[in-house]
Amino acid sequence: MSKTCVITGASRGIGRAIAVSLSSREDITNFILISRTEEGLQETANQMKQGKQIECHAIDLTDYKEVENLISSVGNRYGSIDLLLNVAGFANPKSLLETSIDDWETTYKINVHSIFYITKEAVKFMKKTGGKILNVASTAGMTARPGWLAYASSKAAIISMSETLSEELSEYGILVYCISPGRCATELRKILAPDEDPTTIMQPEHVGEVVDHLLSDNGICLDGQNIIVRKQVQQKNTVSDKVLSEQTS
Ligand SMILES: NC(=O)c1ccc[n+]([C@@H]2O[C@H](COP(=O)([O-])OP(=O)(O)OC[C@H]3O[C@@H](n4cnc5c(N)ncnc54)[C@H](OP(=O)(O)O)[C@@H]3O)[C@@H](O)[C@H]2O)c1
Repeated sequence: MSKTCVITGASRGIGRAIAVSLSSREDITNFILISRTEEGLQETANQMKQGKQIECHAIDLTDYKEVENLISSVGNRYGSIDLLLNVAGFANPKSLLETSIDDWETTYKINVHSIFYITKEAVKFMKKTGGKILNVASTAGMTARPGWLAYASSKAAIISMSETLSEELSEYGILVYCISPGRCATELRKILAPDEDPTTIMQPEHVGEVVDHLLSDNGICLDGQNIIVRKQVQQKNTVSDKVLSEQTS
């Protein structure tokens, strides 16, 4: 079966890694890559497995008219939208007193409103055939993140939206998945933690592999819940390390 897959935030980071990973799948033949940067989208397309139909669309997801036109054109041309992956996100970490109403609105427009809107437009097509939606939230939406007020609360909204939509859209045969990655080496993470060594944390490719599994036929019983995707911090000099070193020395 030839499936059509729409991926936002595909110009770099986690969105690119997911696109590259999914391009190895036989059942997905058409990819619609979205972000504001044409160059980044083209680079993602270059890294994907060849032989697929790949469209790059440089649009701002907060331009709702553009989103509506694009999704309508994709749905009409391919006959269906089988997979919608809402990966695009934005972070500008600030405390309550530093956050202006503009900061707040910008974060919510990209992280929440645009997901509401593109999902609504895509479901108009998906409800005819069923399909899968995957939203990328964050562990920041699950526990307190002082200094990241707008970002963390916007991600909590995505977890809640995903849970509600999972039940609401089940009548159309649409499964809704939600993942909450932990620290992952991308440009967005550099904004949140500029002093961190990116080689010590989860890589975007790890998230890509998890999403590939979730959206495969093996990803049963994993929809409708918030799934944490996190690399465990490796503790140095733990008791077991000490025992091992004593045993091997
Ligand atoms: N990295 C982490 O540690 C981490 C942890 C948990 C959750 N996440 C989430 O993972 C998702 C991907 O983030 P990332 O870490 O891969 O960050 P990233 O490398 O900065 O990628 C963000 C993506 O979103 C796109 N984007 C941002 N604003 C947009 C807009 N207005 N219109 C269209 N596209 C827009 C960017 O493309 P353009 O700039 O080209 O438009 C880019 O492709 C986000 O939702 C983020 O919150 C990340």
